[in-house]
Amino acid sequence: MSDHPTIALIGPGAIGTTIAAMLHEVGRTPLLCGRSAHPELRLRHDAGEIVVPGPVLTDPTAISRPCDLVFVAVKTTQNADSAGWLNALCDENTVVCALQNGIEQKSQLAPWVNGATVLPSVVWFPAQREPDASVWLRARPRLTLPDVPQAKRVTDALSGSGCAVELSADFASVAWRKLLQNAVAGLMVLANRRAGMFSREDISELAQAYLRECLTIARAEGAVLDDGVVLDIVENLQRAPADLGTSILADRQANRPLEWDIRNGVIQRLGQAHGIPVPISDVLVPLLAAGSEGPG
Ligand SMILES: NC(=O)c1ccc[n+]([C@@H]2O[C@H](COP(=O)([O-])OP(=O)(O)OC[C@H]3O[C@@H](n4cnc5c(N)ncnc54)[C@H](OP(=O)(O)O)[C@@H]3O)[C@@H](O)[C@H]2O)c1
Repeated sequence: MSDHPTIALIGPGAIGTTIAAMLHEVGRTPLLCGRSAHPELRLRHDAGEIVVPGPVLTDPTAISRPCDLVFVAVKTTQNADSAGWLNALCDENTVVCALQNGIEQKSQLAPWVNGATVLPSVVWFPAQREPDASVWLRARPRLTLPDVPQAKRVTDALSGSGCAVELSADFASVAWRKLLQNAVAGLMVLANRRAGMFSREDISELAQAYLRECLTIARAEGAVLDDGVVLDIVENLQRAPADLGTSILADRQANRPLEWDIRNGVIQRLGQAHGIPVPISDVLVPLLAAGSEGPG
């Protein structure tokens, strides 16, 4: 690897545009690899706007050599369609940082990356795509990565940027904490409503019951999380702006495929594998899966 590592970003949507903007601000503009062509990317945040010069490339055959660091910010439902990019951008010396939800990024990306190291991350900030293709960043960018030597490539790339990067010795527990948050946000899809719905007492009770089910599975998988996490997550949702959505709700409202399997299905799958009953998942998951195929 040279002193100036080459960086690419696959999937310049809500999260991808945010990370591209953070890299651009510190002079490490990544190669932008997307599905839709754009001349540039625009990120709107509390203090103004960042414009990332493009263009967004749309043809992986334009890539002549692998990169040192590749951020992947496509939806997990789009991993297979991104195989051309991953094949062109990765070799065994590449570090691939998955900016995706779930706890299965490593196993899901491994088949496509030519032996590169896949680093999962937890993405803590909400960002949403606007109708004009710009992105609205709704909190300070923050990532958690496992505390492994390869993470240095990511911390170096984002050093001095507006994106905080934390390293965790118990990344699995952190990832499970985020998964619980994502899983319960799936209720917004079924209610077709944003965070304001959690102020209802009945929804608060349902959310807590579902989170207790998820917590049992998390612990069976080795996550170290205490009982307080359940109320903590529900109270955070109750304190959030009433109009705060979640990417799975945005996908449902736009009739796009949903990341139901990595956010909710995973709890049901692992419950079955451990022989632990997951009655709420058994109702929720088929409804989310069916919604993902909709509307007809
Ligand atoms: N948004 C959030 O607040 C948030 C927060 C935490 C975690 N996450 C997670 O972050 C991940 C990304 O979510 P997101 O909300 O940023 O999604 P998104 O806004 O839908 O962005 C996905 C991007 O990938 C592009 N894409 C799709 N197929 C592609 C392909 N074959 N090759 C290259 N690019 C392709 C899309 O292009 P088009 O423009 O053509 O659609 C879009 O630019 C998900 O796992 C999500 O769960 C999101």
